[in-house]
Amino acid sequence: MWRLSDTMPWRYYTEYFLLLFSLVYFFVGCNTSAWLALSAIHASGISSIKTSDCDNLPGLINKQIQICKRNAEVMTSVSGGAENAIHECQFQFANRRWNCSTVDEQSNAVFGNVLENGTREAAFVHAIASAAVAHSVTRACSSGDLLKCGCDRTVTGTSEEGFTWSGCSDNVAYGVLFSQSFVDSREKKNKMKYDRYLMNIHNNDAGRRLIENNMRTECKCHGVSGSCEMKTCWRAMPTFRSVGEKLKEKFDGATEVVEVKSSGKRKYLLPADENFKPFTSTDLIYLVPSPDFCNPDRATGSLGTKGRECNKTSKAMDGCDLMCCGRGFDTYQETITERCSCKFHWCCYVECKQCKKTIEIHKCK
Ligand SMILES: *[C@@H]1O[C@H](CO)[C@@H](O)[C@H](O)[C@H]1NC(C)=O
Ligand SMILES: *[C@@H]1O[C@H](CO)[C@@H](O)[C@H](O)[C@H]1NC(C)=O
Ligand SMILES: *[C@@H]1O[C@H](CO)[C@@H](O)[C@H](O)[C@H]1NC(C)=O
Repeated sequence: MWRLSDTMPWRYYTEYFLLLFSLVYFFVGCNTSAWLALSAIHASGISSIKTSDCDNLPGLINKQIQICKRNAEVMTSVSGGAENAIHECQFQFANRRWNCSTVDEQSNAVFGNVLENGTREAAFVHAIASAAVAHSVTRACSSGDLLKCGCDRTVTGTSEEGFTWSGCSDNVAYGVLFSQSFVDSREKKNKMKYDRYLMNIHNNDAGRRLIENNMRTECKCHGVSGSCEMKTCWRAMPTFRSVGEKLKEKFDGATEVVEVKSSGKRKYLLPADENFKPFTSTDLIYLVPSPDFCNPDRATGSLGTKGRECNKTSKAMDGCDLMCCGRGFDTYQETITERCSCKFHWCCYVECKQCKKTIEIHKCK
């Protein structure tokens, strides 16, 4: 771990990094998720961002630079949030044709053209990214890492169930507000692309609401040997994994929408199919169907599925039929080493042998 400090030679190292990031930004700058390039800062181990760094951070527009300057201490969490968002997206999409791979891992040009149009994929990335910032900033508040926020002190007193509210309740309101001002400031009310603006804002909001709507109560028992004579509880955010899972469900059930104009000329979005029920505030919405991602295509940012591993027996998206788009697959033998014939010895350890096993893997043609 190293810090953005004034001591040499780190200072030069940092400047080199920031310059590199600025160049990356130059190429991806028109993209509303370009700030996700901040993930590279966290991933490279820089552990604190200073006000003077704000002008050189990758992917930020002017408004975000101003927010950075007023809240430099929060930016490390934003950067960590960007990294979490990308990892979680890759985890949730590992078995799909579009697997959330970044276009160029090294430069972190994030997702390239894939988010250019208002597809389901764009909806998911917007929602998970804005949720990740809210989650990461809230986590930092609770850990006492930030001067501007701490635990939620409004959760106090005795509950109806008879336990005492105490301990550190997650201050999700602060994290959500910060995410709203930082992430949404990216979205411009462009007259030509007003539908895209409405879509992005809705999906950003949906991601944050999923955290708020899934707050849990965590408790600790106090009393003689594990009895629960006294219970103290606090409000805790869902894990980020569970936010990712819920958003993946929302992705699968996302609603296609179209822009309509009311008589007062206000524009808003409605389900494209009149027979569909209205979408809720936590549903994901999209404007255009996704490409099939079968073949590499620079224009759409599709990498194609040649060489992807698939499951011969699965009928789902990870099955060879769907993953390989009907092109067929090659089968390879691979030898793996496993722990086997494990024996439990009294007391207390487990002894295993190493066994070699041949497995078949299938890869798309
Ligand atoms: C966006 O949509 C247009 C029109 O359908 C299409 O020509 C273009 O290739 C799409 N771009 C991406 C990145 O998918
Ligand atoms: C994601 O897909 C790309 C292109 O198909 C492939 O190169 C990459 O290895 C995949 N990543 C994972 C984690 O499977
Ligand atoms: C392949 O898919 C089948 C059916 O869905 C599943 O039971 C099996 O565990 C999968 N195999 C692997 C290696 O993921």
